[in-house]
Amino acid sequence: MSNIEVYWHEHAVSREEREALNGNKGCVLWFTGLSACGKSTIANLVDHLLHKAGKHSFVLDGDNVRHGLNAAPKMLAEIHSEEFAKRFGLGFSAQDREENIRRIGAVAKLFAEAGLVAITAFISPYRIDRDRVRKQLPAGDFLEVFVDTPIELCEQRDPKGLYKKARSGELKGFTGIDDPYESPEKPELVLDGSKKTAAQLADEVIAFLKAKGKI
Ligand code: ADX
Repeated sequence: MSNIEVYWHEHAVSREEREALNGNKGCVLWFTGLSACGKSTIANLVDHLLHKAGKHSFVLDGDNVRHGLNAAPKMLAEIHSEEFAKRFGLGFSAQDREENIRRIGAVAKLFAEAGLVAITAFISPYRIDRDRVRKQLPAGDFLEVFVDTPIELCEQRDPKGLYKKARSGELKGFTGIDDPYESPEKPELVLDGSKKTAAQLADEVIAFLKAKGKI
């Protein structure tokens, strides 16, 4: 049994007070989809549109967060011990992806409490991991956005050459090739990544946030 005791402190400034100052509601806009489906591009366009409109938002992106908070063991070993890096570094096993999403979910929740539109762009391939984040947030705060782009198109784009490496067997456990992607059952929004441009899809997200009363 653990004898660790932790307590929750109420903030001196309420979430409502922060939102009133910001001029928008806090929420988590959770993009999910295959690698190269357009998540990060759309997320950053939405962030830019919100910023231009005087709203407060921030993007948490898979590739960037995996350079810091969720760094790979090899990166962590440069500043910590090998043992520390092995324990806390994250790769792409199901367990590591679970922890990746858990940490991001916790950070996104804090951002939402700070009155930001927290925009996350992670493959987040497992339904159970995304649903766990949803459950951590007040009802209506977790907005799941499925970027529905056929794998053929993602593979054609292949900006980092990773699909090619996965097909040749050089890279193992790549989502969509030899690792699963579980699409959302009831996402709040589905973006058709096959026919529309990223700019059109970003406009759809903005309209959606307005309809939800978040901005
Ligand atoms: S997640 O599955 O844990 O949500 P995340 O979004 O953080 O993944 O990172 C995905 C990015 O890591 C991909 O866009 C790709 O650039 C890179 N990557 C490297 N290895 C893999 C892999 N085995 N599966 C998927 N993406 C990978």
